[in-house]
Amino acid sequence: MFMLLFVIILGKQQTHTALQHPYLGKPWVSGPSVALEKEIVDFHCQLFAYPKNEPILLRLFKEGDRSKLLALYTSLDGEPGVFPIIIKHHHEGNLECVASAQNNTLIKPTTSNPHHLKVIVPVKDAKVVISSGKKELFEGATLELHCQCQAGTHVTYKWLLNGRPVSPSPLYYVSDNYLRIYRTNSEHSGSYACIAFNQYNNTVFNSTSPGAVITVRDLVSNPDISFTVLKQDSQNYSVVVSCLSTRGTPPVTFSLYNRKDLVANMTVEDRNATFSVPIVLDRHLGWLQCQADNGDRTAYSQWMPLEVVPVGGPVSMHYDYDIGENFVVVGLRFYCKAAKGTHPRFQWFLNTTLLYGRGSFYYVVEQPPERSVLLMSVGRDSAGTYHCQVSDSFDNATALSSKRLYLDKEVLNRLPVLVVAIVFGCFSFIIVLVSICCVIGVVFSEFTLFPLSSLVIGVELCFHGKIPDAKWKKNLFEN
Ligand SMILES: *[C@@H]1O[C@H](CO)[C@@H](O)[C@H](O)[C@H]1NC(C)=O
Ligand SMILES: *[C@@H]1O[C@H](CO)[C@@H](O)[C@H](O)[C@H]1NC(C)=O
Ligand SMILES: *[C@@H]1O[C@H](CO)[C@@H](O)[C@H](O)[C@H]1NC(C)=O
Ligand SMILES: *[C@@H]1O[C@H](CO)[C@@H](O)[C@H](O)[C@H]1NC(C)=O
Ligand SMILES: *[C@@H]1O[C@H](CO)[C@@H](O)[C@H](O)[C@H]1NC(C)=O
Ligand SMILES: *[C@@H]1O[C@H](CO)[C@@H](O)[C@H](O)[C@H]1NC(C)=O
Ligand SMILES: *[C@@H]1O[C@H](CO)[C@@H](O)[C@H](O)[C@H]1NC(C)=O
Ligand SMILES: *[C@@H]1O[C@H](CO)[C@@H](O)[C@H](O)[C@H]1NC(C)=O
Repeated sequence: MFMLLFVIILGKQQTHTALQHPYLGKPWVSGPSVALEKEIVDFHCQLFAYPKNEPILLRLFKEGDRSKLLALYTSLDGEPGVFPIIIKHHHEGNLECVASAQNNTLIKPTTSNPHHLKVIVPVKDAKVVISSGKKELFEGATLELHCQCQAGTHVTYKWLLNGRPVSPSPLYYVSDNYLRIYRTNSEHSGSYACIAFNQYNNTVFNSTSPGAVITVRDLVSNPDISFTVLKQDSQNYSVVVSCLSTRGTPPVTFSLYNRKDLVANMTVEDRNATFSVPIVLDRHLGWLQCQADNGDRTAYSQWMPLEVVPVGGPVSMHYDYDIGENFVVVGLRFYCKAAKGTHPRFQWFLNTTLLYGRGSFYYVVEQPPERSVLLMSVGRDSAGTYHCQVSDSFDNATALSSKRLYLDKEVLNRLPVLVVAIVFGCFSFIIVLVSICCVIGVVFSEFTLFPLSSLVIGVELCFHGKIPDAKWKKNLFEN
């Protein structure tokens, strides 16, 4: 209000001075500072000091571009110029009004201060452009997407992955109309879309791009190699080699090599493959390796010798044990081992019952291909005859048996308990006897033979479990 008053007063004063001199003041541009494209908007250019009776030409330009006239108006009596303009995108920027006397070159033209205009072009036809141009990439690569609109100014962008908003993070870098994902992996696969927005006077314009489907393939990991043996018929054997990768996006091409020679290859929609290779038993047939490739680089397994040796005897079974309190055997470990064989299958038997896995008193621990261990606790259930059998895992017909061994609690504890009981029992008995002898000896010191006879009685007791008969004692005393 004050400003307006000041401008009016200033204008009046300048009008008065204009009466005296042919002086052209600086024009003043007014109009909206934001406009929508295609709208018709009026800009005004006003003079506060101008020569009387002199037609004044008012022209509107973009600042710095006088070659292109946007609009013009001839003010005959100092009235403000009106420029109705159909807003175009290129009008954005600083507008300026140039005032000049139409027929008087003595009067110097003047230029207004710039008036900034922002032009809103509603967004239209957004689309996602992949910077590298590749829709398929491999784990670890950087993905850069770029949202392009056919039209739109002062646009902001949002990104969607499979319809859900992508929130910026150190791995998802969003800037202007770019989305950059560093160190991608298969979880970044999906349909990417962008939404472009702009706004004019509370109206929001938006355009959602169609989805761009990106596939990030995880690199295939080094495969594990293993094989099982199959008996085809009585003469023919083969191995089924299995190659297994734990990571990697299918399809994966697996190749099986024997040293440098390709044995077979296949492409699977999975991360494992099996190959059948005929073999001859008991012969070293080379070294096998699996190679896996899902497009970027090849992953290699360890080398594995291709050799199948059937089991051969003798089959040995031995054991060791743990002793608990009171010198009692509480736990036992049986070990079963064959002299040779690359693919043994072990079986444990108690009497004729097969023991496998975990039972009430035992636990079978396979340690292939070397041996099998049977852990057990000693009790009433564990009594019986034990043996183990070894056969080829691919051929049950070849079972070889170990020697049989009978074990129960008594057998196991005989050695420790008996020895300890005899030694300890006799020792204490002798001490008691000797003490009694000494007492008696002191009392009846005339019987010098008595300590000897006590010793004889003690020894007899230990080894025959009975006190010698009184007759013999009597004789001894009488002599
Ligand atoms: C300007 O001058 C020219 C010739 O001097 C004349 O023809 C024209 O009418 C004048 N224009 C105005 C607006 O006075
Ligand atoms: C802005 O919107 C309001 C209503 O929301 C309307 O009255 C006004 O005329 C609009 N202005 C322009 C410049 O379109
Ligand atoms: C885009 O605009 C339409 C109306 O033109 C509206 O229905 C829709 O919700 C808007 N979308 C977003 C994401 O703002
Ligand atoms: C081994 O298998 C092949 C084909 O499978 C067969 O032709 C051959 O007769 C077999 N050999 C024996 C000894 O069975
Ligand atoms: C399999 O091996 C053959 C012979 O070397 C080769 O021509 C073919 O391209 C390989 N296939 C794949 C899927 O690698
Ligand atoms: C891969 O493993 C799966 C499951 O273990 C099995 O169903 C499939 O047959 C295997 N594929 C090949 C080619 O061996
Ligand atoms: C095994 O046989 C013996 C007799 O030979 C028997 O005493 C024992 O109870 C049997 N054990 C089992 C678990 O059957
Ligand atoms: C070998 O024994 C296993 C387990 O007892 C059985 O599943 C398999 O069918 C047998 N194989 C042959 C060839 O007898």
